[in-house]
Amino acid sequence: MAYENLENVKVEVAEGILTLTIDRPKVLNAVNAQTVEEIGAVFSEALKDPGVKAVIVTGGGEKAFVAGADINELAKKTPITGKETSERGQQILSSIERFPKPVIAAINGFALGGGCELAMACHIRIASDKAQIGLPEVTLGIIPGYGGTQRMARLVGKAKAFEMVCTGDRISATEAEKIGLVNHVVPSESLTMECRKLASTIASRGPVAVRAAIEAINSGTDMAFDEGQFLEATLFGLLCATDDMKEGMSAFLEKRKAEFKGQ
Ligand code: COA
Repeated sequence: MAYENLENVKVEVAEGILTLTIDRPKVLNAVNAQTVEEIGAVFSEALKDPGVKAVIVTGGGEKAFVAGADINELAKKTPITGKETSERGQQILSSIERFPKPVIAAINGFALGGGCELAMACHIRIASDKAQIGLPEVTLGIIPGYGGTQRMARLVGKAKAFEMVCTGDRISATEAEKIGLVNHVVPSESLTMECRKLASTIASRGPVAVRAAIEAINSGTDMAFDEGQFLEATLFGLLCATDDMKEGMSAFLEKRKAEFKGQ
């Protein structure tokens, strides 16, 4: 599977885990339009790539995950191009959120603006103890435009979302863990290892089940409770027809490790 013509991101696939590194060190990995497209292209390719069982998204260098959208580009936006930029970013980040294989953000430093939004679109966020997270858009006279106002409120509740979005202040990794914005905080030197461990664990589970779980959680949280439960029951029923289900149950009863085929 080819991950070609990429200037601003790096891709490495090892042991079923694709690591996508946003790599624009001169601007602390700020994402311009091309970078957003490259991120989208990598996910489109990874969707079709049977060799990819999980994805880790991180930032190049020691200092930043992603320090936001590239302000050099943002400064030139008009109402028309601004809306287009926002919609395109939303589209690509939604494709990450709906990605049928687990996506983990390894937040290795500043995750600001679009960087925080990118991390929030991932299924799980692990932060280094050096990370700082925030949505500073109001300090620039704009608001988050890649789904940030929506995902922040859904992840941490409206009260904290109002505070984060309206002050634009950054919070520490520890504070982010406290409010449920990140799953775990780990020492910076073990961030990569912890993310790989988590990705491998999920990748070893029944892939069709993991895919259904992602769909149930994503779609269900935007539905009425009973509709969400209906979706859950329907997916549950469908999973009962899979080879993975037969294998998982047989392996348990035979006291051996399941060998899932994703079928
Ligand atoms: N867009 C464009 N360039 C950016 C950037 C962004 N979002 N974030 C950082 N950079 C650039 C800086 O302009 C600087 O470039 P220079 O070396 O040519 O001056 C370089 O990256 C290093 O950043 P610097 O500000 O010197 O580092 P710092 O450690 O003092 O501060 C930050 C780090 C992240 C706190 C600070 O860069 C910052 O506030 N960035 C903007 C964050 C933001 O508002 N993001 C939301 C955008 S919608």
